[in-house]
Amino acid sequence: MHIWTSSMVTAEALACIFGLQAAILDGWDSIIVESDNTGKISRLKSKSPSCWESASIEKDVISCSNELSNISFSFVSRVCNQVANWATKHTKSLQWPDNWMDVLPAGLVNVL
Ligand SMILES: *[C@@H]1O[C@H](CO)[C@@H](O)[C@H](O)[C@H]1NC(C)=O
Repeated sequence: MHIWTSSMVTAEALACIFGLQAAILDGWDSIIVESDNTGKISRLKSKSPSCWESASIEKDVISCSNELSNISFSFVSRVCNQVANWATKHTKSLQWPDNWMDVLPAGLVNVL
């Protein structure tokens, strides 16, 4: 699946909703959503999606989070978020392989 957006906050919100939907489908009940975006974590914790670029998706995240019995939103420093940053950089440059779930890209293995 490819989704194009020029907005980082929209991309992060989409990643969050897709992750939560996958967790719900798989029957997970304890989830920690981590992000290096303090604004997003703050909005999700307070359940007040006020960023116009991502408000509708963040509302869906909040709605999904109500289906999980144990969910928390947590800020992590960018240093702890190297995999997401690596993936973002390579996706933007169109170097993200479609089969990455089957064969991890070599560069990503180095970050893990
Ligand atoms: C809720 O999740 C946290 C991790 O975020 C875990 O430490 C805790 O044990 C969980 N609580 C319950 C009741 O499952």
